Amino acid sequence: MSVPCITIDGPAGVGKGTVSQRLARLAGWHYLNSGALYRVLGIQAQRSSLDFNDDVALAALAEGLQIQFRLDDGGASVMLAGEDVSDELVTESTGTAASKVASVPTVRAALLHRQRHFLQSPGLVAEGRDMGSVVFPTAGLKIFLDASAEERARRRCKQLKDNGLSGSLRAVLLEIQDRDKRDRERSVSPLFPAEDAIIIDTTALTVDQVMDQILELCGERRLFTAI
Ligand code: DC
Repeated sequence: MSVPCITIDGPAGVGKGTVSQRLARLAGWHYLNSGALYRVLGIQAQRSSLDFNDDVALAALAEGLQIQFRLDDGGASVMLAGEDVSDELVTESTGTAASKVASVPTVRAALLHRQRHFLQSPGLVAEGRDMGSVVFPTAGLKIFLDASAEERARRRCKQLKDNGLSGSLRAVLLEIQDRDKRDRERSVSPLFPAEDAIIIDTTALTVDQVMDQILELCGERRLFTAI
């Protein structure tokens, strides 16, 4: 029997991380935060002063990326070659660097197999932009979360504050709109819902309400039942 997979895609700041981590914990499945791969690569590229247009050097960096994810009761942490980069990972400047390296076709090709490798028993919850459309096209449930850019900027500001960082609502909104445009208009794996994805507009919903809708779908499709 094939290993079950749920994909959660959507634009920046929509709450994919919160929902995906809760789902992975409830199901007892593995969790892939594909955005973190691009974010770590963005950090590494900046540290190495690489040109974001140098696709050969960026692909080589992506191939050799030493990244480890940890999901525990306290949350998720990300290690780059043994160093905890979780704090640096969540900044908007890292998000922008990630979005830039993610638009390079050779980088996406280099990271494809690494992402597919996460699909292991008993199951996988994978979040990102192209999880349902490209990386896991046969997933048993594909969710596309959406929300207005203003609401996503508000959520992102709150998340930054919770992490002890600051950001003005206006600056975050501009950054989100800029990133949306780049992610939606790039030539490879642009952000769009897979044909068979279920789109949930979360603008006026709480996290619990979003979770309820997804858990109902999981039950209907016999992926797992939350108790
Ligand atoms: O989900 P996030 O904000 O952590 O993602 C950071 C950037 O990485 C995002 O702007 C686009 C890119 N990304 C991508 O192109 N494909 C993915 N599957 C995940 C993220």
